[in-house]
Amino acid sequence: MFITFEGPEGSGKTTQIHLLADWLQSQDRAVVTTREPGGTRIGNGVRALLLDINHTEMTPRTETLLFNAARAQIVHEVIRPALEAGQVVLCDRFFDSTLAYQGYGYGQDRAELGRIIRYATGGLTPDLTIYLDVQPEVGLARKQSGSTQEWNRLDARAVAFHQAVQKGYEELIRAEPARWSVIAGDLPANTVHTAVVSLVASRLSVAREMEVEEMQR
Ligand code: TYD
Repeated sequence: MFITFEGPEGSGKTTQIHLLADWLQSQDRAVVTTREPGGTRIGNGVRALLLDINHTEMTPRTETLLFNAARAQIVHEVIRPALEAGQVVLCDRFFDSTLAYQGYGYGQDRAELGRIIRYATGGLTPDLTIYLDVQPEVGLARKQSGSTQEWNRLDARAVAFHQAVQKGYEELIRAEPARWSVIAGDLPANTVHTAVVSLVASRLSVAREMEVEEMQR
């Protein structure tokens, strides 16, 4: 099962992914956690290019292609092999971030982005996408005051940009309600974790029932 996490900066995705990975392991599920951009040697090189605070001249098109170059690598090297081995894959951001940030944030053509994404992923789509719902201002303030996370070039964009991204996510969720689940991200981490676990547990048991039915056929 392929599960992705989306949300604004500082929405707590990283914390929730670690907590969920620990819970899955406690249930004897093999789990792989990864993040975008990054997750591979090549992807980490691309990440450094993308987030460098000095790269002020980078165009939205370059950004799109770099995110998708890192994505092609992580899909090939990490995500597909893990899924083929029957593992649960948790990914911190995936192609919805490109649609939300480069599409709705920068106003790039979404049909064109869709083609680039398809090329990068070979059509791989998450089984479940969890949106941690936090107002962009709250998330940015959280991130700016956090001691563990670096403040990067992409965080430094105007609040209006982040609000456009949030509107974009809302449209993506409306367009594909079966794939997305929205969880309030502004509650204590443990409360959010409980909601995430109950969602994932029910998806896993549905998936298991379907497997059993298939075997009985
Ligand atoms: P990161 O420090 O990983 O932020 P976060 O912890 O919020 O995930 O930086 C990733 C940044 O890249 C974040 O601002 C979202 C942005 N992004 C895009 O603009 N497009 C993309 O396709 C992806 C994957 C990320």
